[in-house]
Amino acid sequence: MWRKLLFVCALLWGGSDALSLSHAPWEQDVEDAMDVQKSPCENFHEHACGNWHAPYGLRALGAHDMRSRLRALNKQLFVRHFEASNSGSGSGNGNGLPEGEQELHSLYDSCMNGRQALHVYMDAVQRVLPDWPLLNNATQFSWSRGSAAVRRFGAHGLWRLLVQQNWQAGEQQVFYVLPPSFELIGRSDMSRFLYRRYLKYLLLELGLRVRRAADLAEQLSAFEEQLQQLLPAAQDSAEALVLHAPQTLQQLHTQFPQLQLLEYFQLLLGDEFTPQLLLVADTEYLQRLPRLLETTDPLIVSSWLLLQLPAHFELHLHEDLSLAAQREQCLQQLNRLMPQQLSQLLLRLLHGSDAAAAAFYSRTQHELQQVFDRLKLQFERLMNDTYIFELDATSQAQALHKVRAMRLLLPQVQPVRQQSQQQLQPALSYDAKLLQLSQAQSLQQFRLALSCLQLPCDTSVSASTGPSLGSLDVNVYYRLKLNAIELPLGLLRAPLLHNSVAPSNFHQVARLYGGLGFMIAHEMVHGFDYVGIHYDAAGHLAAEDWPARTIIRFGVRSQCYLNYRYSNATVMINENMADSEGLRLAFSAYREQLAQQQLNSTALGSFFVAFAQNWCGHSAAVGTAAPSSGQQQQHPAHWERVNNVLGNFAEFAEAFDCRAGSLMNPPDKCRMW
Ligand SMILES: *[C@@H]1O[C@H](CO)[C@@H](O)[C@H](O)[C@H]1NC(C)=O
Ligand SMILES: *[C@@H]1O[C@H](CO)[C@@H](O)[C@H](O)[C@H]1NC(C)=O
Ligand SMILES: *[C@@H]1O[C@H](CO)[C@@H](O)[C@H](O)[C@H]1NC(C)=O
Ligand SMILES: *[C@@H]1O[C@H](CO)[C@@H](O)[C@H](O)[C@H]1NC(C)=O
Repeated sequence: MWRKLLFVCALLWGGSDALSLSHAPWEQDVEDAMDVQKSPCENFHEHACGNWHAPYGLRALGAHDMRSRLRALNKQLFVRHFEASNSGSGSGNGNGLPEGEQELHSLYDSCMNGRQALHVYMDAVQRVLPDWPLLNNATQFSWSRGSAAVRRFGAHGLWRLLVQQNWQAGEQQVFYVLPPSFELIGRSDMSRFLYRRYLKYLLLELGLRVRRAADLAEQLSAFEEQLQQLLPAAQDSAEALVLHAPQTLQQLHTQFPQLQLLEYFQLLLGDEFTPQLLLVADTEYLQRLPRLLETTDPLIVSSWLLLQLPAHFELHLHEDLSLAAQREQCLQQLNRLMPQQLSQLLLRLLHGSDAAAAAFYSRTQHELQQVFDRLKLQFERLMNDTYIFELDATSQAQALHKVRAMRLLLPQVQPVRQQSQQQLQPALSYDAKLLQLSQAQSLQQFRLALSCLQLPCDTSVSASTGPSLGSLDVNVYYRLKLNAIELPLGLLRAPLLHNSVAPSNFHQVARLYGGLGFMIAHEMVHGFDYVGIHYDAAGHLAAEDWPARTIIRFGVRSQCYLNYRYSNATVMINENMADSEGLRLAFSAYREQLAQQQLNSTALGSFFVAFAQNWCGHSAAVGTAAPSSGQQQQHPAHWERVNNVLGNFAEFAEAFDCRAGSLMNPPDKCRMW
């Protein structure tokens, strides 16, 4: 055993300079996480991660594995910052605070302390549309104008209106008109009961008598259940997008005149309104909607719409939350409504000053772009040689083109001079701030979609309005329709990246390629998984699929990922391919980097440790609740993932001297490319 111990130490600290330096805290972490008693050839996940655990304070912030720990660390920084600088001062006038930070403080403080008031929402919506039967006995009510009135503040009405990439052409932003998401009412008896109670509570707050509030709440939730039933059964998950081709507003209006979509968009967009704007609509839902609305009492429809506004902001819901949950909710609000300012603050907190943050960020951009270019080159080499394209030069050329065209999208962190947002007055109530910020955000999205009607969209701008780039996000994405990989800001910190780079330190190089390099490579391979192969270099649905013989060869190679080592293999084949093939790209790129820097290539083992330590801890499914992102993951458990991937690498078995047939060195090694 001592020999193994020595070997591991050499792996981690080998090289004379590294030994003479005092250990950086993150390097100590690497060592602390390992369980060197566990043989690397039996269970490498346990070997690399056996002693890893999230400290108590971070577990309370949702840390259960490596990535969720990063998110929790970011949250902890924010909470400490807001709550420390808050004490004593009545959130003064922000003298000396950098741009945007005063607003963050002000929103966080009022979120944590604020008493909320329903009338602020009612007053705001009445300024847009005065006539609501519930509020002022109005007898006339237009439900499309009512839907538009709540949508101006970011809430959704009888349909959800989103601005997203056109599913056929990623560089274009278009409006999507979809069924409501029914998140609050849900589908269980319990969620319905809670929702009815919530509505009743809002109605009481509006001044209704108890019995009347209870009756009305009952009717409103019954109405929403009827709306739910308009969804085709197969589309039970409201997230399923219906992919009709985009059409103009004018065309859709002609098809569904009762929906009064022209009025709806006119109220939303004002002067910028044009019947030429492009929409992707769930026409099945829209077709069924008018009949239901015509047979429903206008008081019910209008009251339901009215209450969607406070419900969207979860008004009052946090009264019974624990302090931890309240902090979580307030941070989520900041992340949702002021993502750019929050990202800037994260960098400032991590690096001490704006100047240091800017220096770090530009170095990081450069470094990651280099890694990315090297990964692309590796992928290109594999595609040049692969058996899969042996008889199909056309598909091969298209695949090469696609790899070359892939882009790496890094979060935008330049300060957003508040062009579209008016200053937030500190004196405003929390509710008024929420409404103002959310309205500004909606307007910005609408403008983006409108501007893309004439000009090609600036996708760097449009990507930055996406949900994934915030400082609380730690997932990496491959955007199929942009053919681009998107990295969130939450990951761009220690231990994945370092403040001070010592390029001669091969541990840092190993961490860079085994960590972020692997994550980027994993996403690149998604461009060529069973979904990705149907999309071309521009992210459009490919005009023609690969010829049968190429598909068959692809299938022959991928079949290995269905073998006995993989549980739920058919469901997870895309992920398993992306893991192993991605690690191969990262590994080749790492080796090339070592060679270029003339670093000692006996250091290969530290690359595999760095990779495995991306997956310390357990996935969210076990124990803790899933993070609020709500993303349903089809990934294998962390230990299975690490061990299965490494089992595919002869280089791994060699580096750790695992005999043939040991658990980490199985005979059937999968390799696609
Ligand atoms: C609505 O009408 C009822 C009875 O007709 C009246 O008592 C009530 O004050 C009116 N409410 C408003 C807001 O005008
Ligand atoms: C792959 O093949 C193409 C076409 O033959 C060639 O232009 C390209 O340089 C090759 N790429 C690599 C990385 O070898
Ligand atoms: C396989 O997938 C199904 C559905 O996705 C899930 O319910 C089940 O727990 C999975 N089984 C294993 C062993 O992961
Ligand atoms: C690389 O490191 C190993 C062990 O640390 C040492 O035995 C070997 O001589 C080194 N090779 C080079 C080329 O420096």
